[in-house]
Amino acid sequence: MLSKKMEKAFNDQINAELQSYYLYLSMSVWFTSQNLEGFAGWMKIQAQEEMAHAMKFFDQIHERGNAVKLQAMDTPKATWKSPLEAFEAAYKHEQYITGRINNLVKAATQENDYASNSFLQWFVDEQVEEEASAMAVVDKLKMVSDHPGGLYMLDREMAGRGAGGE
Ligand code: FEO
Repeated sequence: MLSKKMEKAFNDQINAELQSYYLYLSMSVWFTSQNLEGFAGWMKIQAQEEMAHAMKFFDQIHERGNAVKLQAMDTPKATWKSPLEAFEAAYKHEQYITGRINNLVKAATQENDYASNSFLQWFVDEQVEEEASAMAVVDKLKMVSDHPGGLYMLDREMAGRGAGGE
């Protein structure tokens, strides 16, 4: 069984992952409004991954014999000045989530909760990928910023996610 402290921390993380889901879904809506369907699709898949992250914590809490407590969600930001600003925000958000995962590992270690520590290692590795994939898009957006038409080529590339992409 999880300690009360870890149970609360895991429930808080369900909320954080669902907020990530909501943020990326909102970015997907915004990209659609900008006629950038490739970016919109990429963000929709990212949102689905966040839902899967939330459900990993959801299932883990139940497997440990504890109680899931769902919490209120915040309305996500809905507009960004540019695709670059949106992806810089996504990268910053992933850094925030990495910090949260690190804090969970710290708490599990302090409690000698080896099962939670083992469970959390998947997220430690996942966050390396999450930051890298957001940063890769930030870098590409910076590269195409001076090239008219580059954004549309990148949009086509982004559409490849889910079709053998990451
Ligand atoms: Fe669930 Fe993007 O971290």
